[in-house]
Amino acid sequence: MTDERTAVVTGANRGIGLAVVQQLLDRGFVTVLACRDTGRGEAAAATLTPAPGRVLVRRLDVGDDDSVRAFAAGLADAPGRVDVLVNNAGIHYDTDQDPAGADVGVVREAFEVNALGALKVSQAVLPLLRRQGPGRRIVNVSSGAGSLSSMGAGTPAYAISKAALNAVTRLFAAQLAPDGILVNSVCPGWVATDMGGRGGRPVAEGAASVLWAVDLPDDGPTGGFFRDGRPVPW
Ligand SMILES: NC(=O)c1ccc[n+]([C@@H]2O[C@H](COP(=O)([O-])OP(=O)(O)OC[C@H]3O[C@@H](n4cnc5c(N)ncnc54)[C@H](OP(=O)(O)O)[C@@H]3O)[C@@H](O)[C@H]2O)c1
Repeated sequence: MTDERTAVVTGANRGIGLAVVQQLLDRGFVTVLACRDTGRGEAAAATLTPAPGRVLVRRLDVGDDDSVRAFAAGLADAPGRVDVLVNNAGIHYDTDQDPAGADVGVVREAFEVNALGALKVSQAVLPLLRRQGPGRRIVNVSSGAGSLSSMGAGTPAYAISKAALNAVTRLFAAQLAPDGILVNSVCPGWVATDMGGRGGRPVAEGAASVLWAVDLPDDGPTGGFFRDGRPVPW
């Protein structure tokens, strides 16, 4: 097992996830770049500026139970340590749908990846997290679209799944508070990625909103929802 602080980022081969990996490397973490396609993951890792060997590319499809199990087993072998988990993988910002006409298959897929994916990966990685000491974090990359208080009729698949992801945050935060593991939801803001499209802010700024929840002190908040370090209404 490595004696260095280690982070795992899901959906990390592009977009915000990749920028989160870079910022974790900048902080000195050994970082697991988890991705559905390791070829694309290796290509993405080649764009980073790590000290050699500090990025580990691993296959993970968060929508596939077998993949989640195999991923967790691989982590237990090497690096054998997880201090920080960032559940970033996400799909289906369905701007073309409304609730009345929504394709339930699309809603189900979004729920499976965006909400259940984070639930399953958190469960699978938890035994490794529990072994570590201070500085343990689970960060769920949510969205203002999952805020019930401001929810309109748009993006139903995405909104339902992100509201459910926020529930995952609350549930894990409550269970893990006695262990000192902080669990928070963060919104990266509107970010110019494949999902966010043009006009959003740079990925580094979106990633910084995620890293805020990694950088929290051990007596920092848990079970919250934040954007750029400021609370977002549920
Ligand atoms: N961009 C925004 O404005 C914005 C705003 C609020 C919240 N967010 C959230 O931020 C997170 C990252 O979004 P992004 O803008 O960076 O999106 P993106 O550019 O579309 O990247 C999404 C990432 O998730 C991965 N992914 C999708 N399904 C997966 C699965 N089943 N298993 C594992 N990985 C999977 C993708 O992998 P592949 O390359 O294999 O498809 C990709 O690496 C998401 O949770 C999103 O909801 C984004």
